[in-house]
Amino acid sequence: MKTLTLPRGGSIPSVGLGFWKIDRDRTADVTVEAVKWGYRHLDCAADYGNEGEVGEGIERVLKNGLCNRDSLWVTSKLWNTYHRPSHVGRACRRTLQDLRVDYLDLYLIHFPISLAYVPFEVRYPAGWFYDPDAKPPRMVHDPVPIAETWDAMERLVDEGLVRHIGISNFGVSLIRDLLSYCRIRPSVLQVESHPYLVQSKLLRYCQSEQIAYTAFSPFGAPSYIPLGMATAQDSVMNDAVVLGIAKSVDRTPAQVVLRWGVQRGTAVIPKSSSREHLQENLQLFDFELSEDHMAAINALNRHQRFNDPGVFCEQAFDCFYPIYE
Ligand SMILES: NC(=O)c1ccc[n+]([C@@H]2O[C@H](COP(=O)([O-])OP(=O)(O)OC[C@H]3O[C@@H](n4cnc5c(N)ncnc54)[C@H](OP(=O)(O)O)[C@@H]3O)[C@@H](O)[C@H]2O)c1
Repeated sequence: MKTLTLPRGGSIPSVGLGFWKIDRDRTADVTVEAVKWGYRHLDCAADYGNEGEVGEGIERVLKNGLCNRDSLWVTSKLWNTYHRPSHVGRACRRTLQDLRVDYLDLYLIHFPISLAYVPFEVRYPAGWFYDPDAKPPRMVHDPVPIAETWDAMERLVDEGLVRHIGISNFGVSLIRDLLSYCRIRPSVLQVESHPYLVQSKLLRYCQSEQIAYTAFSPFGAPSYIPLGMATAQDSVMNDAVVLGIAKSVDRTPAQVVLRWGVQRGTAVIPKSSSREHLQENLQLFDFELSEDHMAAINALNRHQRFNDPGVFCEQAFDCFYPIYE
């Protein structure tokens, strides 16, 4: 498995398994199966609602000696309702307990969006609405400075609960600001990235600051089609250019898209709960794309973002909440 080296030491495997929308009743088995196939990077989040089941899978993996804890990279994410410094440690400990590990390799601020605290006893995971039973239900913003949340994230590293900390869904301006005051630099930025949202300036900036870049939703549309946020026509795996390259290198369109991601220096975290796709998505290191192929895929960029709070918060949660503009 190829890895990206991190300035604080250690390295993150270039391919991971994303757990968003993996059904809870399949999650533990998928975790074990993925490790059997060679996955060593698990991308989790409190918000995905299946960390308890990932934890069950991790426990089985370690008990059965499929790999040891040191060779597994486990990421989780601080949800939006826990940005207050007094909630950060509790949120992380809850995730550690659910995942059945005593440290995380990486803990990310999930979004630069801070929402009013919802106690675990009231609802976990908290989701976007403050009270889903209210009429009408609303998202409730709680303006916590990122500097305060980051300080609490740094303390998790000091306490040994977390090896690396990072950010997700941040743009260059917010990262610059964070770098101006942080004591511990972010090791990783996780953002949406695929051939229709290439983000080459963001990637270049991260590389210049030695921040590893992880591409989420590496296939773009497919994960958003069932949510009504994309259509089959938006799928890069049906793009004629990708299909043509796949034919010429004798690989699947999915492998071409993921190979483009790792070859340009990002980590990719495709989600799959199908055995066939899990295997397929790991087989990326026995072929290369030519410079012409890479350029042709880069040229597909349409700046098309599927996971945009500026759109979905209004459509699904009745709250206009842009963060990228
Ligand atoms: N930080 C954030 O805010 C954020 C946001 C979104 C996602 N993420 C992370 O990124 C991970 C991946 O993103 P994602 O889940 O949105 O989408 P994705 O990985 O781009 O796409 C997943 C979809 O593609 C299908 N698929 C997987 N492998 C395939 C293959 N080889 N051929 C054809 N179809 C294939 C999956 O179906 P099958 O299951 O049937 O294979 C599923 O429908 C998430 O699981 C999560 O961990 C993070």
